[in-house]
Amino acid sequence: MGTRRVLVTGCSSGIGLAVAARLAKDELRRFKVNNAGVGMIGPLECQSIAAMKELFDTNFFGLARLVKELLPDMKRRQSGHIVVMSSVMGIQGLLFNDVYSASKFAVEGFCESLAVQAMKFNIKTTLVEPGPVVTEFERKVYEEAEKMDLSGADEETAKIFREIYLPYSKKVFASLGQTPEEVAEQTVKVITAKEPPLRHQTNRLYMPMTALKHADPTGRLPLDTFYKMIFKHDNVFNATLGVLRLLQRRTGKKQ
Ligand SMILES: NC(=O)c1ccc[n+]([C@@H]2O[C@H](COP(=O)([O-])OP(=O)(O)OC[C@H]3O[C@@H](n4cnc5c(N)ncnc54)[C@H](OP(=O)(O)O)[C@@H]3O)[C@@H](O)[C@H]2O)c1
Repeated sequence: MGTRRVLVTGCSSGIGLAVAARLAKDELRRFKVNNAGVGMIGPLECQSIAAMKELFDTNFFGLARLVKELLPDMKRRQSGHIVVMSSVMGIQGLLFNDVYSASKFAVEGFCESLAVQAMKFNIKTTLVEPGPVVTEFERKVYEEAEKMDLSGADEETAKIFREIYLPYSKKVFASLGQTPEEVAEQTVKVITAKEPPLRHQTNRLYMPMTALKHADPTGRLPLDTFYKMIFKHDNVFNATLGVLRLLQRRTGKKQ
């Protein structure tokens, strides 16, 4: 583990900070982790194109710039590992997360495409896909949501966002949210594996949601399920979260 090559973007707080601390502690200095990212929630009608571009500049173009810069050297050395903090929202879109989710889909498409070429040069690629993680990220998006001007949206949409989405989303974070240290722990474990996977979801409790997508290529199953969970079956949603919370307590550190 002697070579001193480590680069973690966005490590002033949250997951990046925890990952950088873990890598430094274990003297794992050969990784480049693209972690910097920002969130955005709310009705599309209330978001400016400029804000969307800014988000893409961080979440997607930040990654593209970094990889473009580092790839030639990695190719010359025939070694390296590109590690990217994606999200379960890079696999499955979520209500009122349209732009954030689109940026993570872009990240996933970019890495999936690049991974084949990288492999030819003995460069590894790993997308880490956390579910909800309790960090500044969560605090910032909710803070912005509270003061968001919803006048651009119709009354029904604004009501769905405020009265259904926000309380549900907060419950999901409270029930399923991981700590940045848990995500860092898994990130280090996965990227130091002999054969690191292209994708790794850090939150087992969230996996049933992303599995729906693969279970039905027409997209109807995840669409209907999310629709029913959010608009039709309030009790089912709350009961599901209750069971997951119980499972989480039971599995404890096994995650
Ligand atoms: N929290 C979650 O629920 C969650 C779930 C799945 C995936 N993720 C992903 O995990 C990553 C880290 O998020 P986090 O939860 O740890 O959030 P966080 O605590 O807010 O950390 C985000 C980091 O990114 C940096 N950053 C933001 N914009 C930047 C820019 N334009 N240039 C350079 N650095 C920038 C921030 O630095 P400053 O503070 O200096 O701006 C901060 O260090 C993100 O890619 C996020 O999409 C988070």
